[in-house]
Amino acid sequence: MKSTVRLNNWIEMPRIGYGVYQIPPSIAERCVSEALSVGYRLVDTAQCYGNERATGKAIKVSGIPRNEVFVTTKLWGGRGYKDTVCSIDGSLKALEMDYIDLLLIHEPTGDFHEIYRAMEEANRAGKLRAVGVANFLERNYRDLLETAEIVPAVNQIETHVFRQQKGMRSLLANSGTVHESWSPLACGQNGFFRNPVLKEIGEKYGKSHAQVGLRFLYQQGIVIIPKSTHIERMKENRDILDFELTQEDMDHLSALDTDRSMFGWW
Ligand SMILES: NC(=O)c1ccc[n+]([C@@H]2O[C@H](COP(=O)([O-])OP(=O)(O)OC[C@H]3O[C@@H](n4cnc5c(N)ncnc54)[C@H](OP(=O)(O)O)[C@@H]3O)[C@@H](O)[C@H]2O)c1
Repeated sequence: MKSTVRLNNWIEMPRIGYGVYQIPPSIAERCVSEALSVGYRLVDTAQCYGNERATGKAIKVSGIPRNEVFVTTKLWGGRGYKDTVCSIDGSLKALEMDYIDLLLIHEPTGDFHEIYRAMEEANRAGKLRAVGVANFLERNYRDLLETAEIVPAVNQIETHVFRQQKGMRSLLANSGTVHESWSPLACGQNGFFRNPVLKEIGEKYGKSHAQVGLRFLYQQGIVIIPKSTHIERMKENRDILDFELTQEDMDHLSALDTDRSMFGWW
């Protein structure tokens, strides 16, 4: 499998990225620098994480050419068209970048049709290489498609072994939108790091709970963005390319689906 996925506008996006949710600005620069140093080339931040500035700085000082790092951020708040135009410029300023690789609407709140229209314009103006959404479940996604001129490149939704989003996954695949997982480790909820099925499968390959859970998503073509503040775990979470789960493993993992959020979200 290639290390990148081609979005519907032919832009290549890494299949494994680094998420920075809940990483305080005081340590975010160090964490992003470490993630880059161990090979991550996709960083997922958001306006509401408060660490866009630190993320941008870490990328800038890394010495890695800007076009080799894929930067995602997300718009916060149900703003309208005009506010969104300013908000995009605010993110560009905080990140100290001329363009953002992927901008997502963080949640389907407010007039997301108008927000998306402003994003489409920014895409045409070259400020955004790709546009998409997050947390859009079926009705929101179908609703947006009614007015969107550009099919969202990505929908980032809660996806892990306990919430596999099987229905959304086929809808997105049929519509040309890449399925990206947030909380691919379920953020440790529901006993993820003690789960006996993940353990038993991992033992066969010498892999951890985290690696089995991540490989399960990766093997289905889902983009993953695990977060860790520890460099050893950052490495571990990328080290999933030297083994392959069998169909039997996949079936056992598929059976862990509860079809509900582990966070009391949608
Ligand atoms: N669009 C949205 O609404 C939304 C919502 C949530 C998340 N996200 C994105 O998705 C990213 C990932 O989700 P997440 O941060 O919620 O959760 P996650 O990546 O599923 O799990 C992170 C948690 O697992 C621990 N961890 C990481 N790797 C580990 C390993 N190998 N072994 C043991 N523990 C490990 C981390 O602790 P340590 O840090 O201590 O290692 C942290 O507590 C976020 O950072 C964010 O970019 C988006």
